[in-house]
Amino acid sequence: MDKYIINGGEKLCGSVEIQSAKNTVLPLLAASILTDEPVKIRGVPMINDVESMLHILTEVGCKIQRKKDCALIDSAGAVSHEIPTRLTKELRSSVFMLGPLLSRFHRAKISYPGGCDIGLRPIDLHLSGLKRLGVEIVEKDGYIHCETKKLVGAEILLDFPSVGATENIMLAAVKAEGITVIRNAAKEPEIVDLQRFLNAMGAKVCGAGGGTIAIEGVKRLRGVDFVPIGDRIEAGTYLIAVASCGGEIETRGVPPENIAALLHKLRENGCKIYTKNDKIILTSDGRLRSVDIVETMPFPGFPTDLQAQYTALCATAKGSTLIVENLFETRYRYAAELKRMGADITVRGRTACVRGVEKLHGACVTAGDLRGGAALVLAALKAEGQSSVVELSYIDRGYGEFEEKLKKLGAKIRRVRI
Ligand code: EPZ
Repeated sequence: MDKYIINGGEKLCGSVEIQSAKNTVLPLLAASILTDEPVKIRGVPMINDVESMLHILTEVGCKIQRKKDCALIDSAGAVSHEIPTRLTKELRSSVFMLGPLLSRFHRAKISYPGGCDIGLRPIDLHLSGLKRLGVEIVEKDGYIHCETKKLVGAEILLDFPSVGATENIMLAAVKAEGITVIRNAAKEPEIVDLQRFLNAMGAKVCGAGGGTIAIEGVKRLRGVDFVPIGDRIEAGTYLIAVASCGGEIETRGVPPENIAALLHKLRENGCKIYTKNDKIILTSDGRLRSVDIVETMPFPGFPTDLQAQYTALCATAKGSTLIVENLFETRYRYAAELKRMGADITVRGRTACVRGVEKLHGACVTAGDLRGGAALVLAALKAEGQSSVVELSYIDRGYGEFEEKLKKLGAKIRRVRI
C-alpha cells in the first residue's frame, strides 16, 4: 500500500496536459463491442478504472492492446455475455456493458455494479429503459439476467437525467430496429462525446447535449480511431488546487464551457480566469473570499464530482459557504478527515456548512472515495506543515500521474510505500 507525504504551503505554478475523460473513455470501451472491427481510443489515461474495464472486455473475449496512452480493442472474438462478479464489483461502469452485450448477444448477465461508496446508486433507470427496448429482465441471487428476442426502438422518458442510464440506453439502441427517443436525457459533455464516437462508427444519433436524444437503429457499426474529449473533472481539480494554494495554472484540453459552473464560482472567490479555445488560465493570490452557496446539479450545473475538491477550497476561504449535494446521498465522508486538519465543517444530510478558517494544519488522513481523496490532497497542499494521505487506491481510479502533475506545478508531494 502507498501513501502521499505532502508538505503544504507552496504556491503552485505551471501548465497541465489534461488526460482523456475517464467518464467518456469508460462508456467508449463498453461501446467497442458493438462492432467486430478494431477500435482504437487515444489518450486513454493510465488509471485503475480503465484497467478494470479492459479486464471486463478481455473476460467477454476481446483482444486488447494497451500502448502507452492508446487502447486497441478487437472484439471479433467476443463470445461471452456474462461478466464475473469480481469485476462488476470493482466499478460502476460495468453496468454500461448491459446495452452492448444485449446488442451483440441478445443476452447479458452481470451482478450489481460496485463503484465509489457515495450513495445508494440504484440502476432502476437503466433497467426500465432496457425493458422499453424489449429486454426481459430477471433479478435473482444478486444477478441481473437480461434477454431479448430483438431490440426494438421506443420512446423512453427518464425520471432523472441519469448519465449512466442515458449511455446504457444509447448503447442498446444504436443497432435496435427503428427509432429510439430518450427524453430528459443527461446533457453532460461525456454524452455528447459518446454520440460523436457512435456516429463515427456509423450510428445515427442526434440531440446529445440537449434534453432529448434520437437514435435511428442501423444494421452494422464499423471500427474507429478516436480521440475523446479532455477530462473536465481532472482539469477542475487542478484549477481548484491552484485557486486555493495561490499561483498560476494553464490547463489545456478542456473547453471552458465544460466547467463553466466551476469557473463562475472561482471568479466569485476572487480568482482571475482567462480562457481561449480549450485553454484555461487561472491566477490566484491564495486569499479567497467565500461564496454563499454552491448546489451540485446535473450538467450544466455545478458538477457533483467537483463538490469535495471545492469544499476543501472553502475550508480556508474568508467567510462561510453552504454546500448542497443534490445527486448523491453520502458524498461528504471526506469532511471528517478535513476536520482533522482543522476545517470547520458541519454536515447535515445533503448539506454542509463550511466556515473558513485562517489555516489548516497537517494531519494523517484517509481517502474513502475517488473525489474525496483528491480533496484531501488539495487540503494538504494548502495546510501548514506535513500531511500524509493513505488509501491511494481510490485516487488511482481516476487520476493518472497525479503526484507527477502536482510536482510539476511545484507541489512538495511524494509517494512512499508503507
Ligand atoms: C456518472 O455516474 C459518473 N460516473 C459519476 O462520476 C458522476 O458523479 C455521475 O455520473 C453524475 O454526474 C461515470 O460516468 C463512470 P447518474 P452515474 O446515473 O452514471 C440516481 C466520478 O467521480 N440514479 O447520473 O452512476 C443516482 O442514485 C463518478 O467520476 C437512479 O436513481 O450517475 C444518483 O442519485 C462518481 N437510478 C443520480 O441518479 C438509476 O438507474 C445521478 O446518477 C441511475 C441513477
